[in-house]
Amino acid sequence: MAKNYSIAVIPGDGIGPEVIAEGIKVLQAVSQKNGFTFNADYFDIGGERYLKTGEVLPDGMIDKLKKYHAIYLGAIGHPDVKPGILEKGILLRLRFELDQYINLRPVKLYPGVECPLKDKGPEHIDFVVVRENTEGVYTGAGGVFKKGTPDEVAVQESINTRKGVERCIRYAFEYCKKRKKMNKLTLCGKTNVLTYAFDLWERTFNEVAKEYPDVQTDYTHVDALTMWLVKNPEWFDVIVTDNMFGDIITDLGAMIQGGMGIAAGGNISPEGVSMFEPIGGSAPKYTGKNMINPLAAICAAGMMLEHLGEEKSGNEIEKAVIQVTTKHLKSLAAGQMGHTTTEVGDFVVKYMQE
Ligand code: IPM
Ligand code: MN
Repeated sequence: MAKNYSIAVIPGDGIGPEVIAEGIKVLQAVSQKNGFTFNADYFDIGGERYLKTGEVLPDGMIDKLKKYHAIYLGAIGHPDVKPGILEKGILLRLRFELDQYINLRPVKLYPGVECPLKDKGPEHIDFVVVRENTEGVYTGAGGVFKKGTPDEVAVQESINTRKGVERCIRYAFEYCKKRKKMNKLTLCGKTNVLTYAFDLWERTFNEVAKEYPDVQTDYTHVDALTMWLVKNPEWFDVIVTDNMFGDIITDLGAMIQGGMGIAAGGNISPEGVSMFEPIGGSAPKYTGKNMINPLAAICAAGMMLEHLGEEKSGNEIEKAVIQVTTKHLKSLAAGQMGHTTTEVGDFVVKYMQE
């Protein structure tokens, strides 16, 4: 019997619905081609709903989402909502409560894509960041004291647990082994200043490394990493790091792979429900203009299929995306592609069917 996947779709805010529509179009095409089916249930959450109803994430939503094979997310973030409310109330809550403890962010420069780094091409930029996704400064631990007075104190703590660090590092070693590229795993930290947190990370890394004698290990401070990613991105295969550093270095990664228009990620819960998203955000400026690049959302759909065990379909999506970046797009930036959002989605479908 043909496999059927149930997908929870959260188009979200801003350009989210437009790019998700293209991703769904591609999923429909690839599923028909490769003999599986999926049903998409749409969930209306995000800034608009919050502004209308005051509700961020409705009660019972998380339990509902747990019943799906995967979640496909567009974007969360609204210009009229104070920063932090939607991010913490939706995106981070989903990551935490669904225990999506890995944020997997591939950085790959596709042929035909302009790279801002001089003399670097697709042969130099192909690495994956394994970002811890449930701890660090993201837990919200800390507080304020004497707010608004000259004596105000603000504390924002970084929580690192042995269990949380170890499961992330283990995932990274396994991923590196499976990827079979350079077989090299780099720990990115800041052992010279964050002497509690990254001492735990480094010790755990070195211990787990003993179980993977075939994986070459390396360490770099995060500040130095931002330098190497610009100067020698070809040194990297898989990078493992904490939540905050992972957030920062993957925006740098997105730029060297051609921009937010192509950068996709997966919030992975190896034991539960994972969530796939373009990492670029809601881009309110471009909302409803049919100008935004849907390739990041399409690549996120590809990652989702790969995660569900439909590797062939995931690869076919990637191949089709490469055809489009090589043959059609003037730029990956919104409004500068030389094509509309829907046209780019149509191109991907067309190449997949060839
Ligand atoms: C990301 C985003 C989020 C993060 C924000 C929106 C909370 O920047 O997915 O990288 O910091 O993780
Ligand atoms: Mn980010």
